[in-house]
Amino acid sequence: MARVDPVKKSAVHADATFQDRLARVARDTQALLDRLLATTPIDGERARPVRLLDVMRYASLGGGKRLRPFLVVESAALFDVSRQNSLMAGAALECVHCYSLAHDDLPAMDNDDLRRGRPTAHKAFDEASAILAGDGLLTFAFDILSRPETHPDVEVRLELVSALARAAGLGGMVGGQMLDLAAEGRFDAAPPELSEQDVKVLQAMKTGALLRFGCLAGSILGKANPSQRAALEHYGSALGEAFQIADDLLDVEGDPATVGKATGKDAAAHKATLVGVLGPAAARRRLENLVSEAQAALSAFGSDADVLKAAARFVATRTA
Ligand code: IPE
Ligand code: IPE
Ligand code: MG
Ligand code: MG
Ligand code: MG
Repeated sequence: MARVDPVKKSAVHADATFQDRLARVARDTQALLDRLLATTPIDGERARPVRLLDVMRYASLGGGKRLRPFLVVESAALFDVSRQNSLMAGAALECVHCYSLAHDDLPAMDNDDLRRGRPTAHKAFDEASAILAGDGLLTFAFDILSRPETHPDVEVRLELVSALARAAGLGGMVGGQMLDLAAEGRFDAAPPELSEQDVKVLQAMKTGALLRFGCLAGSILGKANPSQRAALEHYGSALGEAFQIADDLLDVEGDPATVGKATGKDAAAHKATLVGVLGPAAARRRLENLVSEAQAALSAFGSDADVLKAAARFVATRTA
């Protein structure tokens, strides 16, 4: 009988564990968001904006990998944070992510009809409702973070609020989205030529910031020491860069039926991507290096961080 390489065997085991744990976080996040949306009080209950709630539910409950909540839960688990606390913070982050997708898909932005294998929010409803649902999900995230169920310690909650606001806003996701549209040449006669470094900064903002926040949130919830926190931030940055390269490769090489969204759009739209700057082969090599960098950043946690290391591998090999 062929001998199984023990290193490979443990990597296979870590991958299986990763899939199980991601699926569990996805289920728990779905149930939690469902409950939070259903039970949020509306002042006076006089005029419930039923349509708004319907679109918010559509944009946040319909699938998705739930990788960002997974990062919160699993980085917090390194510090024995209660799962209820980390799921709340993960749900808040997922609300910001789902809002970013609803707005990203709008005709004024990427103009997409398909998301998570279904019509985008503005296609299933209408543009104004999709815009308001995004606004509703963004603010709901901070409602969730400010609740005692997220953490008993008010200073921890404040730090989470501040860190998510920074990751989502001008210096993070929204700022990156603006740079992304500017790179298409929307605001100038000709598209600006972006260097590799410019594209890295843009992508660290538009995509990296929220993924990095997921890892940082675990360290905030767990009151990690500065070196543990820096390690998780390093992991989150490398993972974030890898994540967008993989997304851009899927746009070039992926199958829309599997990816759940249209492909082959980025080059036509003159999107600034590392795949565009480096070419697919070099981008894939860069992706591999980033996986190793992300995994190495967690070395001080030993085998406790195996599931996060497997997540870095998943980011590079995913087909959706
Ligand atoms: C898509 O994110 C948007 C990007 C940042 C590239 P995901 O690929 O995590 O989307 P879902 O949540 O799984 O649908
Ligand atoms: C968007 O990047 C990242 C967001 C902040 C939503 P993309 O525009 O490439 O994401 P997809 O491909 O539409 O999911
Ligand atoms: Mg976009
Ligand atoms: Mg898009
Ligand atoms: Mg994309």
